[in-house]
Amino acid sequence: MMSRMTGMGWIALFAFVALGAPWHLAAAGEAPRQAAVATAHPAATAAGREVLQAGGNAFDAAVAVTAALAVAEPYSSGLGGGGFYLLHQADSGRDVMLDARERAPGQASRDMYLDDEGEPQPQLSVDGALAAGIPGIPAALDHLADRYGRLALGETLQPAITLAREGFEVTPMYRRLVGFRQEVLADDPGSREIFLHAGALPDLGQLIRQPDLAATLERLALEGRDGFYQGELAGRLVDGVRKAGGIWCRSDLAGYRVVERDPVVSRFRGFEVVSAAPPSSGGVALAEILNTYATLARRAGGLDDLSVLGLHYRIEAMRRAYRDRAEYLGDPDYVDVPVERLTSPDYAAGLAVGISPSDATPSASLAPVITAPEGPHTTHFSIMDADGNYVAATLSINYPFGAGVTVPGTGVLLNDEMDDFSQKPGVPNVYGLIGAEANAIAPGKRPLSSMSPTFVRNDELVGVLGTPGGSRIITMVLGGVLTATRGESVADWVAEPRIHHQYLPDRVEVEPGTLSEDQRVELELMGHRIETNDGFGNMQALAWWRDGNRLEAAADPRGEGEAVVFDLRQAP
Ligand code: GLY
Repeated sequence: MMSRMTGMGWIALFAFVALGAPWHLAAAGEAPRQAAVATAHPAATAAGREVLQAGGNAFDAAVAVTAALAVAEPYSSGLGGGGFYLLHQADSGRDVMLDARERAPGQASRDMYLDDEGEPQPQLSVDGALAAGIPGIPAALDHLADRYGRLALGETLQPAITLAREGFEVTPMYRRLVGFRQEVLADDPGSREIFLHAGALPDLGQLIRQPDLAATLERLALEGRDGFYQGELAGRLVDGVRKAGGIWCRSDLAGYRVVERDPVVSRFRGFEVVSAAPPSSGGVALAEILNTYATLARRAGGLDDLSVLGLHYRIEAMRRAYRDRAEYLGDPDYVDVPVERLTSPDYAAGLAVGISPSDATPSASLAPVITAPEGPHTTHFSIMDADGNYVAATLSINYPFGAGVTVPGTGVLLNDEMDDFSQKPGVPNVYGLIGAEANAIAPGKRPLSSMSPTFVRNDELVGVLGTPGGSRIITMVLGGVLTATRGESVADWVAEPRIHHQYLPDRVEVEPGTLSEDQRVELELMGHRIETNDGFGNMQALAWWRDGNRLEAAADPRGEGEAVVFDLRQAP
């Protein structure tokens, strides 16, 4: 692993790669013959493996893993949340993004989180039932099973049902995140009973049992999406949400639909990079950064990613993509998102013209836009089956433990994804910045996301990756793509030291030890403000090296996840 951005690094010879490297061409119909699962929790990895061993494909395993994470990582994702699944079908070669993002309830309104003076009340969109969008995960599970899987939900949901009933053990991560949200969890009787122990932090190793969630999963297994979005359970959800101060209606649940969208595809160093489409900003921002960086690298006649110039150019490309993200990105069913323009190499070439090789561009000197903060808690998993189907999925309930409210009798913990909308669009803030209209709240609309499940591939490699981390997701995936396209091992993709800039605030965030003292000084002399933050992200990735037919998987060393590569039993 390259643990510090110092030393020789790897020289990216863009000019050569852009002309086309002499890759070994993959044979038609090849398959990895093994399977791989990388998730943020060992119980979820075990669930995916069990379903693959039972004859399921990658899409069945995605159902099992999603449900197991909903049980064992209640702080990250769940039946009450949403997410994006990037799917690749081996037989057709088709990529599709399954959009299971939450939708604003029908009674939501643009100013619902403003007080009488028109000032945002941030707690309202974070804590409590008013913060919750209409969940997409149950519909996604049904859709995956129905359209893509081989097994019935009764089989694929079983590991999660057992886990919910028998319980999972409290880990250090669980304790840390309960500690972070203890007050809001203690305030809600449903959450208090499940996630705390007599109102206090549970001990390490204590079992967290969720019998109501087990029953809800069983209902989903028996009745499919209607078991969640219609009938008795839907009634309980709506009653519970409204009693807790929320605005859900039966029609919001009945009307929820997942959407299949074309992913955003870009090219970088001769690789195809496939990532999330709006309402995620991930694929668009990633393409814009990669295109800008590639233009700058060509201009420099080749570039070491880890040199000061490489880091400076990466930061400047990030700055501009995050500015555009704030101005243009939103739910494509509600606003026109100029995806083609923002992801075109010509547009990036125009951005590159304004980037100096020696000086940082102050964000304040770019056209102003308001940026909205994003919740950090989310999860990601990557799966490949032996036939070469693969899934990258990033799922969320937004803040740790979402809105902190568990609807009585359902085990469903509500998301607080409404906080990902801009609260006060179109109004200049104290700095005179305007913008974020594209991400204004509207009934039925999906809030803008940074979740970026991604494939990176050429004839030698298929990489499947993603991470949680709020607005930092995109730059972490960028780091993974840069590392993958340097030919490094998948363990390096997930461990890669992180560096992030998001336009505003105008600062570069780095993990401790990312930069040498000399690099820090040089970047500061260029005008960059550098801040060191704790390690961030929890990337789960896998790589199928086609040349040699080798499968690798890795879980981020910063988290508690587990990645496995395994042989499947021969069919009888
Ligand atoms: N809630 C985090 C995201 O959607 O990006």
